[in-house]
Amino acid sequence: MKIEVSRRSLLVVLASILFFAPTSFAQVSSDAAQTVAVIGTGSVGSALGPRFAQLGYKVIYGSRQPHRADVKELVARTGPRAQAMSTLEAGNKADLIVLAVPWLAAESVVKGMGDLDGKIIIDVINPLRRADDGLLEMAVDTSAAEHIQAWAPEARVVKAFSTMGSKIMADPSALGGPVSVALASDDDDALQEVRQIAERMGYPTVDVGPLRHARHLEGMIVLMVVPAMEERGQDGWEYYFRPRSDAK
Ligand SMILES: NC(=O)c1ccc[n+]([C@@H]2O[C@H](COP(=O)([O-])OP(=O)(O)OC[C@H]3O[C@@H](n4cnc5c(N)ncnc54)[C@H](OP(=O)(O)O)[C@@H]3O)[C@@H](O)[C@H]2O)c1
Repeated sequence: MKIEVSRRSLLVVLASILFFAPTSFAQVSSDAAQTVAVIGTGSVGSALGPRFAQLGYKVIYGSRQPHRADVKELVARTGPRAQAMSTLEAGNKADLIVLAVPWLAAESVVKGMGDLDGKIIIDVINPLRRADDGLLEMAVDTSAAEHIQAWAPEARVVKAFSTMGSKIMADPSALGGPVSVALASDDDDALQEVRQIAERMGYPTVDVGPLRHARHLEGMIVLMVVPAMEERGQDGWEYYFRPRSDAK
């Protein structure tokens, strides 16, 4: 009798595993896939977060102070499913992470985010510093993106959105003309996934190749701030890669 009971219990347990576990595993992984962790709640985070919400993603902001008033206001503005929590918690809940923090904070943020294996990190960081003559220059010999990939070797780093201002991130039509999202990654599937996201947001995209080319994308921002810095009487600009097929 004892054996019968334990056999029956065993069957019940096995049936639960077979019938319920796959669904709940699938649920967890699909939740993570439909969730984006936006790390940093400054100009970039607060521009891109609501755009992801418009695409149907659940947006979780990762913040040093998730209970701050401006972060609460951002969460409310993003939508009913949005949340804010610590950077570590936000990163744990998403398969897609937007890293929108200052370059100088990037290493501690990435290394403090726990297991990033297999996750897509959209890196928007421009690692710039002011040179002795007042002009901006790259603060690294390679790129922020390559450093991030080295700090999280199994993550799928995609450089994207780094060549545009946050105003255009919030509204692709703000200039009245197209602005490109240029993408670089060593993971082609991840690049294509981010490419689709950018296109659904309303940007023309260009694939500029391996992550190593992120250093050239990051360098483009040195030029972008010249009009403002030098008071040269020029308008500012945004970058658009015009396809050759468009040439007349
Ligand atoms: N602004 C642009 O137009 C633009 C365009 C392209 C690329 N980028 C790049 O995107 C990144 C974010 O730029 P942003 O303009 O959004 O910067 P920001 O307005 O200064 O915001 C950065 C956010 O990062 C978080 N953070 C985490 N650790 C930090 C630390 N140690 N010190 C300061 N902030 C910290 C903060 O959010 P919490 O306080 O909630 O933690 C902060 O609000 C930069 O690397 C920048 O180069 C900016």
